[in-house]
Amino acid sequence: MNASYGVSAWPNVREVNEKMDRLVGMPLLPIREEAMARYLRYFDSKCAGSKAMIEEAKGCIPGGVQHNLAFNYPFPLVIDRAEGAYLYDIDGNRYIDYLQAGGPTLLGSNYGPVNEKVWETVRHSGPVTGLFHEYEMKLARLIQTCVPSVELYRCLASGTEADMVAIRIARTFTGKERVIKIGGAYHGWSDQLVYSLHIPYTQTYEAHGIPKAVSGATGEAFPNCLDSLRRALEANEAQGGTAAVVVEPFGPESGTRLVDRDYNAGVRALCDEHNALMIVDEVQTGMGRTGAWFAFQRDDLGGITPDIVTFAKGVAGGFPMGGMISFGEELSALFSPGTHGSTFAGNPLGAAAALATIGVIEREGLVAQANERGEQLRTGIMATDNPLFASVRGRGLLNAIVLTRPCAHAAVGWALDHGLIINAPSPTVLRLAPPLIASEQDINEAIGILALMPNDLATE
Ligand SMILES: Cc1ncc(COP(=O)(O)O)c(C=O)c1O
Repeated sequence: MNASYGVSAWPNVREVNEKMDRLVGMPLLPIREEAMARYLRYFDSKCAGSKAMIEEAKGCIPGGVQHNLAFNYPFPLVIDRAEGAYLYDIDGNRYIDYLQAGGPTLLGSNYGPVNEKVWETVRHSGPVTGLFHEYEMKLARLIQTCVPSVELYRCLASGTEADMVAIRIARTFTGKERVIKIGGAYHGWSDQLVYSLHIPYTQTYEAHGIPKAVSGATGEAFPNCLDSLRRALEANEAQGGTAAVVVEPFGPESGTRLVDRDYNAGVRALCDEHNALMIVDEVQTGMGRTGAWFAFQRDDLGGITPDIVTFAKGVAGGFPMGGMISFGEELSALFSPGTHGSTFAGNPLGAAAALATIGVIEREGLVAQANERGEQLRTGIMATDNPLFASVRGRGLLNAIVLTRPCAHAAVGWALDHGLIINAPSPTVLRLAPPLIASEQDINEAIGILALMPNDLATE
């Protein structure tokens, strides 16, 4: 495992977060009519095939689209071909893909060696055995080498499932009910953890139909605020205590809201003080994306040992797979058979893809390379001197540009129009998650596009 991390400068977290608060407090500015017309012209003139297919899809799929990330105005792009860092839509347009399906295609799309391993498994055993397959054990062994002190690895089917199971195990272990998450953090759409996620600027919840009793045992603490976490833990003491605190090591919403260098260590200490487990959600940050196998291993993120780590997405390079690891024999014993069931957990296809993915990352030194490319990306973006960019930050290949105006959604549209797919986790932040296989040239191409992003998007 490579231990040299590529962070050359640590941002002033308070300053960045204050800037974000000011920006988020600003009114959302509409896109000028003329600019919107230009944006729509792109879709009309260049994406006719996508338009027609989505129209047809509305007749058989609610709203004409399934994946949350595909919701796109005026309609989603229909992707025909995917290769490495690039996507091609059915109208033949090519895009650099810095969204990567929200994280899973860690090695880029359609990665040959992973596909081959999966094909071989399909031919040999088919997609699901429901029994035991040797790849499950090989995968668990491989994960133990990535995180040497880990006790056991339990395969699951998704990040949502992993987080749900983790809090159930924490409750069993501690005999307590309450859990605390961090405000704004996303841990999947389970009834307990989708708690308090709002649609920006609407005060409306994103998920409906959740009885109060189900989310009643979930509480929140302010991001990057140990005092707030302490208060939440103390308040819970009067109600039977806290089973677990769930955090993302980068800060909520994959680091959109930065955390101080010593924040994770502070969370660890508070959990110990209150006999609560620390669950680290590495669904976004796991498997090399941040320049370490897992972000919690980075000294510059506290260098702590959590109790449970959940992950999914990238572990199988885009094939469905989730899982969790735990530290300590007593806790790991609670993962035992019969405590949770999941048809697709440990399925040979996912296990084969994960084996191949982790194998490639290890052999090709992609964890270390993520640091180099990330540094290249951040330095290159700041060197553009684009006045729209207030700052750029991140670790490895999970990065964010903070804008000087709340125009991130218009910026995403503009970037798509110019061949670069990114997303906007908040009105002031653009998220850039290139695949681990991105070459120096791929990164430079994206920087070249970002350099041209106009400064007046928000006022359009
Ligand atoms: C941090 C985090 N946790 C959990 C999840 C849920 O994972 P899944 O979509 O695999 O259920 C996500 C998904 O985006 C995530 O980003």
